Amino acid sequence: MTRLAVSAPGKAFLIGEYAVLAGATALVTAVGRRAVAADCDDPDRPPASPLTEAAYAHVRQFLSESAGTKAPGPLTSVDTGSFAAGARKLGLGSSAAAVAAVVGFHLAEAGHDPEDPAVRAVALRLAQAAHAQVQGGGSGADVACAVLGGTIAFTRGEAPVPVAHPAWLHVGFFDAGAPADTASFVQQVRAAGERDPAAYAAATAQLRRAAELFRSGYDSPDAAIGLTAIRDAVALHNDGLRALQRMSDAPIVTANITAIVDQAARMGLAAKPSGAGGGDLVVVFASRQADLDLLAERLQREHGLCAIGRLPVAAPGLRRDERPPLSSRMSGFFRLGVDGRRDAVASATRIARDRFAALDPGSLDLGSADNLIENVIGTLELPLAVATNFRINGRDFLVPMAVEEASVVAAASNAAKMIRAGGGFYARSDPPWMIAQVQLTAPKGSQSAELAVAAVHAARADLLALADSAHPRLVARGGGARDLLVRVLAPDMLVVDVVVDCQDAMGANLLNTIAEVLAPRLSDMTGWTAGLRILSNLADRRRAHVTCRVPPGALAGRGFSGAAAAAGIASASRFAELDPYRAATHNKGVMNGVDAVALATGQDWRAIEAGAHAYAGLTGAYRPLATWRVDADGWLSGAISLPAAVGVVGGATKVHPAARLALEILGPSSGAELGQVMAAVGLASNLAALRALATEGIQRGHMSLHARSVALGAGAQGAEVDLLVHRLVESAEIKHDRAVLLLHELRSETR
Ligand code: MEV
Repeated sequence: MTRLAVSAPGKAFLIGEYAVLAGATALVTAVGRRAVAADCDDPDRPPASPLTEAAYAHVRQFLSESAGTKAPGPLTSVDTGSFAAGARKLGLGSSAAAVAAVVGFHLAEAGHDPEDPAVRAVALRLAQAAHAQVQGGGSGADVACAVLGGTIAFTRGEAPVPVAHPAWLHVGFFDAGAPADTASFVQQVRAAGERDPAAYAAATAQLRRAAELFRSGYDSPDAAIGLTAIRDAVALHNDGLRALQRMSDAPIVTANITAIVDQAARMGLAAKPSGAGGGDLVVVFASRQADLDLLAERLQREHGLCAIGRLPVAAPGLRRDERPPLSSRMSGFFRLGVDGRRDAVASATRIARDRFAALDPGSLDLGSADNLIENVIGTLELPLAVATNFRINGRDFLVPMAVEEASVVAAASNAAKMIRAGGGFYARSDPPWMIAQVQLTAPKGSQSAELAVAAVHAARADLLALADSAHPRLVARGGGARDLLVRVLAPDMLVVDVVVDCQDAMGANLLNTIAEVLAPRLSDMTGWTAGLRILSNLADRRRAHVTCRVPPGALAGRGFSGAAAAAGIASASRFAELDPYRAATHNKGVMNGVDAVALATGQDWRAIEAGAHAYAGLTGAYRPLATWRVDADGWLSGAISLPAAVGVVGGATKVHPAARLALEILGPSSGAELGQVMAAVGLASNLAALRALATEGIQRGHMSLHARSVALGAGAQGAEVDLLVHRLVESAEIKHDRAVLLLHELRSETR
């Protein structure tokens, strides 16, 4: 049970880092990754740290001096899992957010509203004191941002000033691949400043000028003027950083940062390190999200560098945070009956209990079914279950799964618990880009393929505009056509691939319309005949990427050590990487999880299946979707990339009441997040299968789960179920008739 939760956002420097230490004004924005302090009986919550203890001491002292306030309860735990990128934390100010969240929590516990400006002023003072006491050194801008949220202009020694984030400015976040040691960089720069004060003064003056110029662009209501100023400011700033690097030898602007900065500049965008530099976080400024997506795609393709995903900026500051469920760890969930499980899920998700009637048999009535497809004679029911223990980017999910195979849900939940012991899953997504295809074939006497390709290329801009005109509402939501490619498949056959940003829709209808709208124009301009006009289900531009790390201890089981299990799983992964016959079964295990979530949430699971297997074979060899390695420190690390053509608007999510409720229970904030959950469940399913296969074999676990369903089928109830399962497994004959007999014996013994 959770009684109270308070969260605080992370931060990113937009401009003014280093210069702020010399008295300049920095602009810092709160980002949508949050530290959550919660009164929550989840055994996996992180233990206290010197930082949270200091925050607690300050807030307790304050409350003890305030008349009429009750003493705080014990120190709350604070979770900063959402700041992680695999084994390391992204430089988004997790420690400042943690301090702010702890202070905010205990103030809220004493009856103060953490969103009240007066309460935030107190929280800021207490959090800054605690942070300075333990961390020291920094400017304090991160703590101010964590408490106040939004974007602030921060000058040392002055009250932070809120600044409106311009609606036209989009900020992208990229991971330059290595953590920065902020404190040591700052020290190195400071020491260099003492050695050569004139050079230091020149560099910081340049950084200060850059901050002022940036601010003028940020305040401009005009996107073109604003972005020009920001581009100039960022160029000046990066020069200033290089000057600091030359004098201090601190590797502030690394090769990866330079690659991002240069690529962004070639596309008319502005990129700079955010914070200390050194390879951690890079911010990119653009006036269109589409430009950031294009940059992300190029950086990924050419340099293997990843966008962190679409992180909201100017996020809210300290607030009560009651987004349910705060924990997906529900011990004993499987032992509850269906009603008890519905109670538990309703209470964890705060969905009204009576709405769970949408999951009763027959909730898709015959009339609706008859409208869905043709020749209907009934409906087909499948069990719908909830997988527990899932934690992705620091957020907990209860995951609905619809599947008829025993052990899939239990195995995914168990593996998610092992992965949770290593901090959970880290996930990111490609932009929601899909491909609409138009096939062109050469009639007799037509121009050559080369000339036809050239004609299409020459009309690229017009064709993209025509594609957009087919879906003005998609364009208004920020989506639309992004790119157009022509491929020669044979001397007499071409295909035109139009890349479309589908936003939160799965996209099939959008894409098919675009293909149909473009086909006649393509035919006119080339003289070739338009053939098929349809989307491609090979959604390799729209993947969910999920990784995890599992401590070996969490993998240990009856009769085998964690290290042995980790080695066995890595070897099983290699087997699948080397052999397509094994890879097919390996991927079947992945899809056990992926399909079950897709089905439960009303997605087009045939499209997901087709996309997954086409992607697995994209290199010419059929490969495993998920792979595993043992790290140098003995931890098991896993990764999956899965085409995720899924949406949270439209499709069966609209018509099937159970799918609608399932989607609500899961609560993804976007189609991209739904894709991340599906990939995470696929990775967990694969881990569970490989762990069993590499150790005791798959049959033992299957046997007891199978015995459970046979026992239930024979009529066992309550405590009888476990007893009958035990006897069935002992008898090694898991059959209905045997179960009826054993149940009869059991009942006569206890009578
Ligand atoms: C069974 O549904 C799935 C497995 O065969 C997957 C695998 O072999 O990895 C256990």
